[in-house]
Amino acid sequence: MGDSRETLGPRAFVTGFPIRHSRSPLIHGYWLKTLGLPGSYRAHEVAPEAFADFIHSLKDGSSGFAGGNVTIPHKELAFRLADKPDALSSELGASNTLWLEDGALHATNTDGRGFIANLDERHPGWDRHGTAVVFGAGGASRAIIQAVRDRGIKEIHVVNRTVERARELADRFGPRVRPHPAGALAEVMKGAGLFINTTSLGMDGEPAPQLDFSPLAADAVVTDIVYVPLKTPILTQAEEQGFSTVDGLGMLLHQAVPGFEKWFGQRPIVDAALRALIIADM
Ligand code: ATR
Repeated sequence: MGDSRETLGPRAFVTGFPIRHSRSPLIHGYWLKTLGLPGSYRAHEVAPEAFADFIHSLKDGSSGFAGGNVTIPHKELAFRLADKPDALSSELGASNTLWLEDGALHATNTDGRGFIANLDERHPGWDRHGTAVVFGAGGASRAIIQAVRDRGIKEIHVVNRTVERARELADRFGPRVRPHPAGALAEVMKGAGLFINTTSLGMDGEPAPQLDFSPLAADAVVTDIVYVPLKTPILTQAEEQGFSTVDGLGMLLHQAVPGFEKWFGQRPIVDAALRALIIADM
């Protein structure tokens, strides 16, 4: 843009290592432009060994940033170094959104809210069943398990190749979360209303295993947090078997909303033009 709106107003960042593939500058840049707000949002690469110094420069104001987003591999350290992490990020042990308020560095995690908002937008009523299956127990599954539990889903079956990782999540998130080895997939799918892929299987066109979704409830929803490609092999299989699907792009867009509102003072809208902008960039 290069106009005066960028040099006036709050400055925000997305940091990670590496950070060049982040789509967040496109999302926030779109909102700043369409809302006509002063401010800027930039990718700011910080190496792991420099991250603590970066946080100090945020806290003492010398960085000039009002706040920003944090992604891999800095989410855990961002949580630990923040002055005021909220309850959501404290339970996760990871934060993806930071902002300065009353001289303190606040932190939250918006991934779970993004996941829920995407389902609410694309498939209202997705939560009418009391049971969900989460496939995968890596870092990406945590905020989703927390959010699905907090939404009131009563049984959350976490199925993972390494069952120990699923057990750790059950310990962290409480008795509604039930850990299982990969072989239990068909059994736990019986009657479930939601299937969530949080594994990297099928990402970037990589092959995914053939899954049989037929044990799910007839009106179940299948969703994938992978969004490159938009229609993942798992979503394609689910559609071929007659199930409704929700792709993962909306989670990325909706998780950005709370941060934008904190730094720039207006709640932005996830609209079709924003979705089209990100798809065109893929
Ligand atoms: P992220 O933080 O992005 O979730 P991760 O921590 O590496 O990434 O987790 C990736 C998830 O995909 C894990 O659940 C992983 O299973 P393991 O915990 O057993 O490693 C799962 N995954 C990756 N490749 C897989 C494969 N070939 N078969 C089954 N599960 C796989």
